[in-house]
Amino acid sequence: MQTNRKIADSIYYIGANDRRLALFENMFPIENGVSYNSYFIDDEKTAVLDTVDRFVSEPFFENVDKLLAGRRLDYLVVHHMEPDHAANIGRLMRMYPEMKVVCSAKAGQMIKQFFGTDLGERAVYVKEGDKLELGSHTLTFIAAPMVHWPEVMLSYEEKEGILFSADAFGSFGTLDGTIFNDEALIDEAWYAEAGRYYTNIVGKYGPQTQAVLKKAAGLDIKMIAPLHGYIWRSNIGDFIAKYDLWSRYRPEEKGVLIAYASMYGNTENAANALALALGERGVKNVRVKDVSVTDVSNLIYLAFRYSHIVIASCTYNLAIHPKMEHFLLDMKALNLQNRTVALIENGSWAPAVIKNATEIFSSMKDMRIMEEKVLIKSALQSGEQIEALADALAKDVK
Ligand code: FEO
Repeated sequence: MQTNRKIADSIYYIGANDRRLALFENMFPIENGVSYNSYFIDDEKTAVLDTVDRFVSEPFFENVDKLLAGRRLDYLVVHHMEPDHAANIGRLMRMYPEMKVVCSAKAGQMIKQFFGTDLGERAVYVKEGDKLELGSHTLTFIAAPMVHWPEVMLSYEEKEGILFSADAFGSFGTLDGTIFNDEALIDEAWYAEAGRYYTNIVGKYGPQTQAVLKKAAGLDIKMIAPLHGYIWRSNIGDFIAKYDLWSRYRPEEKGVLIAYASMYGNTENAANALALALGERGVKNVRVKDVSVTDVSNLIYLAFRYSHIVIASCTYNLAIHPKMEHFLLDMKALNLQNRTVALIENGSWAPAVIKNATEIFSSMKDMRIMEEKVLIKSALQSGEQIEALADALAKDVK
């Protein structure tokens, strides 16, 4: 039974879901799996747009075979060379020897690196503004370097108004029967997963994402067809607005993420005391997270989402607790900027959190460290510093 679906005149979704993979990129937990989207255009010329990950290859090949119905496959369009989409290029080339490969020159170089195959005469190299005529459908290519690799091209199908957006506008989560956003429940939890995907995977490349958004603004987009997650055909502006915030490193909302690393509960106690003090002062938007049991990808999303971040950590090996250090270095690696941070340090004999965290935040762009700090020696003995920090935070957030 074929598992494709028509999404527009002569254009089909031919992707596949992975519900077995525990860690995307062997790094990010994906409780709800992930989809690898691929598309087929059945025009005077036939084209497959990207492939799927090798672990879910079979439905993809079945779909290609069924939709071709004995016709020749003319083109494989490669928007992105990361193996979650490119793994089957080599096999597809062997199966369809007449097929040309349409991609950026950089992607061609990567095909050689991954598959040992020089595209030679099979290559159709495209750059910004080039067109691929398929009959009644035409793809116009849009360079999107570093969204999320350097070779990435998007394409815009003029007749249907479809932007094939590669990783941009992707999300974690399988497509369980529904493939369009307006068939699905797009709630806060869904946006949190889409945000976790963007901020952790593409988050480092905000300016490059902004450049793509500017190019997209000049197109009449009726549908966004990404390589992961739902195809968007309604309320497209809502999702674009989130991308605009995330890629400008602007918080989605005023609120406080309190992230704590605590070995025996004393630093946790300070984090809870601060959260309560903020609640008392009318701050509604507070999230308290234990970095030792929260995957760092969730912390990263929350750091992008909220305006204020409190780091409460015990000292370990004369430095910041390793789990907290991972979070801090990840924020730095992903270029998070434009946030207000507050520091709570615990250390029984040689506290090092404020010094080390200040060094990290000072090396990032537009990170304001609040004057009000909390210094704990082993356990919180008085609420004075917490109250002072809560006063300052509540005033700032409101
Ligand atoms: Fe979904 Fe960058 O690959």
